[in-house]
Amino acid sequence: MNKKYRGFITIILTFTLTYLFILISGMYMEVLAGSVKQPIDFNHKKHIQEVGLECPICHTLVQTYYRATIPNIEICSMCHDEGGDGQKAGNPKTQKVLDFIKKGQTIPWQQVYQVPDHVYFSHQRHVVMGKIECATCHGKIDQTTSPITKVAVKHTMDNCMNCHKKSGVSNDCVACHK
Ligand code: HEC
Ligand code: HEC
Ligand code: HEC
Ligand code: HEC
Ligand code: HEC
Repeated sequence: MNKKYRGFITIILTFTLTYLFILISGMYMEVLAGSVKQPIDFNHKKHIQEVGLECPICHTLVQTYYRATIPNIEICSMCHDEGGDGQKAGNPKTQKVLDFIKKGQTIPWQQVYQVPDHVYFSHQRHVVMGKIECATCHGKIDQTTSPITKVAVKHTMDNCMNCHKKSGVSNDCVACHK
């Protein structure tokens, strides 16, 4: 093999490996930090304290289903359509929401709180029957001014079982693992 050609290959390989290293360690750091990036700079505090909305207006199924659900353009467009209350101030942060709505595009939120598939968790059961506050399991969301990127309360098996023990609720394996 020609010497010049070998040098060229070495450079390409070095660049590729360095790039891969940075990429992989970046992903690893993100997993370690447990944080994600959200597509829109959503502000819970503003919607709850200034606009006066309650959680189920957006997390529509939280009282009736096992999932709370994360709201998308159908709900945002109640106020963020052209001329709506959410758009009146001409706030540049709301322009992005309007763009998604106009294109009929789903906002790709990343779900942060998640138990594995083998675990059964029901919001209705805890919020309605158990009368447990959202804040007990999610922290002070109504004080949060930027999107949720990491959990405030960890939902490990130990944490579930500790509260069940205190509340006199079943800790049978099959109650949570179906
Ligand atoms: C009931 C009405 C209402 C609904 C529903 C609503 N918003 Fe808003 N939103 C507002 C109002 C009012 C403001 C304040 C407008 C301003 O500051 O310019 C606002 C502000 C915002 C802002 C700017 C926040 C900031 O820090 O300045 C963003 C981003 C936003 N909304 C996103 C959303 C998204 C995404 C949804 C749907 C998941 C949504 N909103 C649903 C009324 C609403
Ligand atoms: C007893 C603890 C607990 C309480 C109380 C609770 N949550 Fe959750 N929440 C969880 C767990 C655990 C998950 C992950 C569930 C999963 O992966 O299915 C979750 C997930 C979520 C999600 C992600 C989307 C989804 O559909 O699951 C949202 C949004 C949410 N909760 C909102 C709320 C709101 C709003 C309240 C209060 C009305 C509330 N939660 C009360 C424990 C709780
Ligand atoms: C105006 C609509 C709106 C209202 C009202 C609202 N939320 Fe949310 N919520 C969102 C949106 C949009 C997201 C996804 C973006 C983010 O993570 O901030 C979200 C995310 C969350 C998450 C993280 C879900 C996950 O696992 O990724 C929790 C927990 C949550 N909300 C709880 C609450 C609680 C508790 C209340 C009432 C105190 C509330 N929300 C009121 C729109 C709303
Ligand atoms: C802060 C306290 C608390 C935490 C944390 C909690 N639970 Fe519960 N859980 C309760 C209470 C209280 C009930 C009973 C509600 C009722 O009256 O039906 C319950 C009921 C249940 C039930 C129904 C039990 C049965 O016998 O049918 C399941 C399943 C369950 N929880 C799963 C979970 C899982 C999974 C987690 C963790 C991800 C969790 N819980 C975290 C308080 C909690
Ligand atoms: C109150 C709810 C609850 C009960 C009761 C419960 N688990 Fe779990 N379990 C969870 C949750 C939530 C996770 C996932 C989070 C974690 O790994 O901590 C989990 C995870 C697990 C895992 C996977 C661990 C891993 O490292 O991935 C095993 C195995 C398991 N549970 C076995 C059991 C057995 C056996 C019992 C009965 C003695 C039991 N669980 C009772 C909630 C529960």
